[in-house]
Amino acid sequence: MATYTSSLFFIFFYFIFRSLSISIAIVPMNETFHYVNQGDFGIYDSEYAPSYRALPPFTSPFQICFYNTTPNAYTLALRMGTRRDGSVMPWVWEANRGKPVRENATFSLDSDGNLILADVDGRIVWQTNTANKGVVGFAILSDGNIVLRDSKGNFVWQSFDSPTDTILVGQTLRVREGPTKLVSRKSINSNTNGIYSFVIEPKRLALYYKNNMRYWSSSFTEVNRKNVNIVNATLRIVETEYEENNFHGLLCNIENSQSIFDIPYLDLGTVRYNSSLSYLRLGIDGNLRLYTYRARVRGNAWSLLYTLFDKREDEFRMIFEDECQQPNRCGKFGLCEDSQCVGCPTPNGVFAWSKDCDTKSPGCNVSEFKYYELKGVDHFTVKYTDGIGPVTRGDCESKCSKDCKCLGYFYRTDKSRCWIAYDLKTLTRVGKSTHLAYIKTPAR
Ligand SMILES: *[C@@H]1O[C@H](CO)[C@@H](O)[C@H](O)[C@H]1NC(C)=O
Ligand SMILES: *[C@@H]1O[C@H](CO)[C@@H](O)[C@H](O)[C@H]1NC(C)=O
Ligand SMILES: *[C@@H]1O[C@H](CO)[C@@H](O)[C@H](O)[C@H]1NC(C)=O
Ligand SMILES: *[C@@H]1O[C@H](CO)[C@@H](O)[C@H](O)[C@H]1NC(C)=O
Repeated sequence: MATYTSSLFFIFFYFIFRSLSISIAIVPMNETFHYVNQGDFGIYDSEYAPSYRALPPFTSPFQICFYNTTPNAYTLALRMGTRRDGSVMPWVWEANRGKPVRENATFSLDSDGNLILADVDGRIVWQTNTANKGVVGFAILSDGNIVLRDSKGNFVWQSFDSPTDTILVGQTLRVREGPTKLVSRKSINSNTNGIYSFVIEPKRLALYYKNNMRYWSSSFTEVNRKNVNIVNATLRIVETEYEENNFHGLLCNIENSQSIFDIPYLDLGTVRYNSSLSYLRLGIDGNLRLYTYRARVRGNAWSLLYTLFDKREDEFRMIFEDECQQPNRCGKFGLCEDSQCVGCPTPNGVFAWSKDCDTKSPGCNVSEFKYYELKGVDHFTVKYTDGIGPVTRGDCESKCSKDCKCLGYFYRTDKSRCWIAYDLKTLTRVGKSTHLAYIKTPAR
């Protein structure tokens, strides 16, 4: 009986405290908002040349907007830049990629602390799931982080935890408990996921085509040699002894950091202006670029400071890759050398390159196709993946022949290694006779 009563008391107090904590969690009236996607469009140049409507939340130079590149399909996004810059303003965060909303959609912070993007029919398209979690206020911070804060000033939710293709200075990618990657945008007009991703993994930072074909990765030798694991990577301004040598770095943290001498990082270019407002973008083309911002300069507020796949020669400390390493550099099928598309391989020899250069569908039945050989040529996956092996070229070929989706295979005679290709795209001329390519083509 006694336990029964005390548990009743417990339940009673539980509900009292629960209702107390709910009443504490209520967002003050002046902090809640309800904006509707209607009215006149803005007139200043923004990335992707969209129509847009700027909403009141603004912390210079960041502003929340609804924008569209196709009529009546809006993205809620954070824009960086002011009209005084006279420069095209980029989008550095977005809520609803692939899930556009229409005219009269709403963006609101309810008194329960949930931040909601709802379409005109009331359907919730995106939300922070922060109802009754102690949110007392909303802010765009000066670094571009949109936050929901509790009464102690902690972030209950932050936009820095949900990047799509862009990170700002101070933003972090994590191996576990995401965000684990950036995903490219499909095209200027189509704001859906593209085919490229930039991923943080325990041993490397890597770029993938279609989720599983790696075309670039960082070479953190000590991470492999000491067998330690990367935990996260943050875009930072790295201070050096001399201020003019400060640089943008994507700095990795590792588990048991005392076991390692060199902190792994990507050097993304020397700081050019007295501004920490920069962003790293995985582009529509699968390239990585860092842009930096200089406020109050008319006409060219943005500078491109770093491009991973670049025509430039390798500079001191910086990592550059030849443009040929980009899967789509030479379109559906093409031969690339020194960042240029130089040829269109065919069974009858290499012809001049054009955008239309492609392979013919070889068919599935062994009797329907044959292979032709290209010497001194690599697939975009060869440089940064190990392939299969050691195997003989014959085994490599029979793997490809049995696999209807295989369009060709790549083989290194010096290492007896084999790469099966499901997409050919850009082939790079490497000028080493040990690197061979065999492309499927119709037998007749
Ligand atoms: C949006 O709402 C306004 C009034 O609130 C209405 O006049 C207008 O027709 C609506 N637009 C669309 C496209 O539904
Ligand atoms: C990154 O990882 C380090 C090491 O585990 C940790 O101390 C730090 O808080 C992490 N930073 C972020 C932003 O997650
Ligand atoms: C750089 O900016 C900081 C903060 O805005 C300011 O305190 C400092 O004087 C500036 N330095 C230069 C060299 O302009
Ligand atoms: C493959 O081609 C051969 C010869 O033309 C034919 O006999 C066989 O049925 C074909 N197999 C398939 C699965 O189409």
